[in-house]
Amino acid sequence: MTIQRVGILGSGIMGSGIAEVAAKAGHDVVLRSRKQETADAMVTSLEKSLNKQVDRGKLEADEAKAVLGRVIATDHLGALVDCDLVIESVVEDLEVKRLLFTELDSICKDSAILATNTSTLPVVEMAVATARPDKVVGIHFFNPAPAMSLVEIVPPLTASDATVATARAFAEACGKNPVEVKDRAGFIVNALLFPYLNNAVRMLETGTASAEDIDAAMKGGCNFPMGPLALLDLVGLDNSVAILDALYEEFKDPNYAAVPTLRRMLSAGRLGRKSGSGFYDYSR
Ligand SMILES: NC(=O)c1ccc[n+]([C@@H]2O[C@H](COP(=O)([O-])OP(=O)(O)OC[C@H]3O[C@@H](n4cnc5c(N)ncnc54)[C@H](O)[C@@H]3O)[C@@H](O)[C@H]2O)c1
Repeated sequence: MTIQRVGILGSGIMGSGIAEVAAKAGHDVVLRSRKQETADAMVTSLEKSLNKQVDRGKLEADEAKAVLGRVIATDHLGALVDCDLVIESVVEDLEVKRLLFTELDSICKDSAILATNTSTLPVVEMAVATARPDKVVGIHFFNPAPAMSLVEIVPPLTASDATVATARAFAEACGKNPVEVKDRAGFIVNALLFPYLNNAVRMLETGTASAEDIDAAMKGGCNFPMGPLALLDLVGLDNSVAILDALYEEFKDPNYAAVPTLRRMLSAGRLGRKSGSGFYDYSR
């Protein structure tokens, strides 16, 4: 199946990034947010991002205009009816996602593939919330989606080979390198990454070193582009605690048990970059 029209749900950092990737790859994109103002704001920020790329000589002005022309913003779920593929990227909450999949199933055309960008939740739970479990798959982009080359393709037990092949072809058409991984919490990257991030917070909590020094050490000593605490701020502490909780729930490995500091920061609303503060201050 060829994917031409792509629906994106969720106007957060990932939804916006995936929309940019899909539109730049030549797909028609329907951006759906719960509020029209938010959907419109996504288009404005896409325009800004494309203009920046034009200014830097990375994109032709005509091309930027064409990309923008392929994007429609709406608050109406019914606008997704003609999409060949719908990717949801809303809050990391299984109940919210399950309800959304049931709703999408009743709206989208029968041939449409419904995908989730979940970081760690069981994709099969979303598949069985629909009457088309063979056409549900995880297509997990990384943050920031326009810059990161990896996409994890996560087939639940119910997915058909055709669905998996189409998801893989879509990721490749978007210029990404897909890997395939079983429907297990954390897939490949987060299952390996989060014990490290969690232990970095534990190290801060026990006073072993400052946030700046922990991050500087992992950048300078391991050649990582970003330290673990700055990375947690980028991912968002709400997403991070949700990921750790899902990993712990699945494997009961103490390395996945979110350290208390993470939960306290979450309660205080210090979610990282998106809230203006996390391990670092982003308000200025
Ligand atoms: N942030 C990351 O690094 C990252 C990376 C890969 C995948 N993801 C996944 O992408 C998804 C979105 O994450 P994000 O970082 O873009 O989050 P975000 O907080 O930036 O955005 C979440 C979006 O969900 C919407 N939302 C909140 N509650 C909702 C509800 N009840 N119904 C419908 N929409 C609702 C919000 O309005 C917002 O548009 C999550 O599943 C997350 O696990 C995140």
